Amino acid sequence: MNNLQTLPIGVFDSGVGGLTVLQALQRKLPQESFLYLGDTARLPYGTKSAETITRYAKQAVNILLERGIKCLVLACNTATAASLPALQQLFPQIPIIGVIAPGAQAACDNSITGKIAVIATEATIKAQGYQQAIKQIRSDAQVVTQACGLFVPLAEEGWIDGPIAEAIAKEYLTPLMTKTTFDCLVLGCTHYPTLVKTLRKVIGEKIAIVDSATTTAQVVEQLLMDKNLLQVTSTPSTVTFIVTDAPERFAKIAKQFVGIEIGSDHVELVDLV
Ligand code: DGL
Repeated sequence: MNNLQTLPIGVFDSGVGGLTVLQALQRKLPQESFLYLGDTARLPYGTKSAETITRYAKQAVNILLERGIKCLVLACNTATAASLPALQQLFPQIPIIGVIAPGAQAACDNSITGKIAVIATEATIKAQGYQQAIKQIRSDAQVVTQACGLFVPLAEEGWIDGPIAEAIAKEYLTPLMTKTTFDCLVLGCTHYPTLVKTLRKVIGEKIAIVDSATTTAQVVEQLLMDKNLLQVTSTPSTVTFIVTDAPERFAKIAKQFVGIEIGSDHVELVDLV
């Protein structure tokens, strides 16, 4: 056993959305502890510039490193798209895994025709992360994209189904479906898996819907095995939550978002500088 094995896995997101990734990680790696940081003071990242997102993400990684983590999962698609290479360069002392390459892998695994649609935030689409990652795996792939800005507030409001969610989903997806045919839809944003029933209704039964959470958890498990970092003791696992604003709102949305019960007194407030 080495000391690093007992450290938690760091999980960073712009807010509450990364909890969908945390859940997949917990399912795959139940023996591991986690330190989750949500930058709730500055959410959304999806409408910000790559420079600003990278500046925020650097501050987040610094605080997670100060606390002690053995690897970092960038659960936020937007932060991955805008900042992953910069963060990997700045923090070579720690393995950093983003969600886009695993999501691209899931898309390629689930597409027969190679015609893939990606929905994500404006910043993720602009950074071309999914487009490039899919092409790297499958050079003949045809990728179409659509930014769906309203899905994040909808999900946080809990309006994940019903006529409003459906009308908005139709507005975003109908032009995409009229323009092209695709057999796989990638949910390239942490919040979108909560809207899956509505999306399914709009796109029908034939198109595969994938997100990056499960494949990211597989990549993290493999990385920990390769680097001999898996937790091997039987110490009970823990999850620590840190946010940059409104712990009570974080706890409330976490419950409605993914059904995680966190007392707001269990969410620590920090300032990122
Ligand atoms: N977590 C972000 C993502 O996955 C969505 C929320 C935001 O815009 O900050 O892209």
